Amino acid sequence: MASLTFSTLPTSITIKKPLFSKTSSHLNQSHRFKVSCNAAANNNDKTVKNSETPKLILPFEMQNVDRRNVLLGLGVGGLYSAANLTTNIPSAFGIPITAPDNISDCVTASSNLRNSADAVRGLACCPPVSTDKPKDYVLPTNPVTRIRPAAQRATSDYVAKYQQAIQAMKDLPDDHPHSWKQQGKIHCAYCNGGYSQGQTGHPELQLQIHNSWLFFPFHRWYLYFYEKILGKLINDPSFAIPFWNWDNPTGMVLPGMFEDNGRNNPLFDPFRDATHLPPTIFDIEYAGKDTGASCIDQIGINLPSMYRQMITNASDTTSFFGGEFVAGDDPLNKQFNVAGSIEAGVHTAAHRWVGNPRMANGEDMGNFYSAGYDPLFYVHHANVDRMWKIWKDVDRKGHKDPTAGDWLNASYVFYDENENLVRVYNRDCVDVRKMGYDYERSEIPWIRSRPIAHAKGANVAAKSVGIVQKVEDVIFPLKLNKIVKVLVKRPATNRTKEDKEKQNELLFVNGIEFDGERFVKFNVFVNDVDDGVETTAASSEFAGSFAQLPHNHGDKMLMRSGVAFGITELLEDIEAEGDESILVTLVPKTGCDELTISEITVKLVPVV
Ligand code: C2O
Repeated sequence: MASLTFSTLPTSITIKKPLFSKTSSHLNQSHRFKVSCNAAANNNDKTVKNSETPKLILPFEMQNVDRRNVLLGLGVGGLYSAANLTTNIPSAFGIPITAPDNISDCVTASSNLRNSADAVRGLACCPPVSTDKPKDYVLPTNPVTRIRPAAQRATSDYVAKYQQAIQAMKDLPDDHPHSWKQQGKIHCAYCNGGYSQGQTGHPELQLQIHNSWLFFPFHRWYLYFYEKILGKLINDPSFAIPFWNWDNPTGMVLPGMFEDNGRNNPLFDPFRDATHLPPTIFDIEYAGKDTGASCIDQIGINLPSMYRQMITNASDTTSFFGGEFVAGDDPLNKQFNVAGSIEAGVHTAAHRWVGNPRMANGEDMGNFYSAGYDPLFYVHHANVDRMWKIWKDVDRKGHKDPTAGDWLNASYVFYDENENLVRVYNRDCVDVRKMGYDYERSEIPWIRSRPIAHAKGANVAAKSVGIVQKVEDVIFPLKLNKIVKVLVKRPATNRTKEDKEKQNELLFVNGIEFDGERFVKFNVFVNDVDDGVETTAASSEFAGSFAQLPHNHGDKMLMRSGVAFGITELLEDIEAEGDESILVTLVPKTGCDELTISEITVKLVPVV
């Protein structure tokens, strides 16, 4: 039986319990993580202390694990000791994305937000000008290790310190590179067309750090300096930002320290969805509408959803990181801009769930131009960053960082904690320990939450022949203004274990064109039968979803993207490994009226 090993732990933790237990239904999961959502409702005490975070009551064994508050072990050799990633590796295909040396080349984010007149955060996102050229950043050799705590377990002392640091940031003059405003603007500049690719010979193209393999490394560096600046402001180099532990049932609500405490809490942001405060459980599959699922049911959906994003749909580098993006690629017009599983999944869902839908542009978290103004943004992204680390720690073939020079040498420019302009490279951010930080340990119950099948061996595809169109007969581009069903042929059937180890079977939905200024989401199912029961993310038949936050992107609104879903395990679960075709169902959830798709295909992709 397969087991998972966490290779960076001092004594390696092997989850001996078989991962693929057929008995672990989502119902069992709900029971195992039975929580009480009542505590928060009774919490009238708004003093800032640890208990402000609503207590989710867990069964005995979980409480024990969580209370231990164990830190990840120190002094462990990095996963990358063999590869010398600090030398220049020649680019394999082209020129890596390079943020401009001259930051005054930055332009105001294009003003055609759907509701630019009501853009409460403003579109002037450029950093304070500097006459210096950025110097290549060198990681400190013996840094104090900063341990990022889980927000729901933070002590009152910690919260007080964190508030003090954020307040100090907010007290700086707006034009100071460390100010809260300037930190917020960084996101807008790198996402909303502030920078071009002029440094690499393409001044006509925008630089974009979403929807590609730049997503994880860019945000890691962004948080790195943000954290060090906060530490500097309170004179504590060991200060670490918390992480919003949404992948664990104890952390699936908006962390209490971010709520309005009636005393000018600097962590509070007025531009949030006021209906999503504790005890409401975060919906990892959020599509813009509350589902009304009970607390327990929502957890029963969230855990397998995490399993899917971290395991099933993250079985290779591209699926997890997203597609390649190099100099000369047009983020507005690239055929296959592909976001990784976490970026497209829980990452986008949380932005949308936290932002205020009543605001013209979903401010703050619901739109990239404004997201960096909410202190919760960095705490959300800390957990996104933690997912990158955990994904690599999961002992599975295929869980590897990109090795192409175009990725390793891609670079961004930031003001560091000493106000120096520095250039940082992807290759220097692959090991969090070398960057001087790590995460407080928190259980990852989703790793035992493999989805379960609705129906097994039901010959769904064969029974649909003659009723449902075959993909080769479909006229593309295909409109997704209603539910679409299509039969797709598989490249191979009854694959052996060895074969599966060598190649992953992926379902691609490519050439997705949509309005980039709308929140867009559709779900994808494989062999889902209409039995009147709504299939959720807890079921194997749910392959995954495609979701995009609105972008403000210059004069074009049309965006292109693609998405891939791992179906090797899915087909095992539903006992369809011998079927020649699969029945693919695409269900539009929001913003899809004008969305079109140009390709649906199943391919075998080598595991490297
Ligand atoms: Cu740069 Cu969560 O987005």
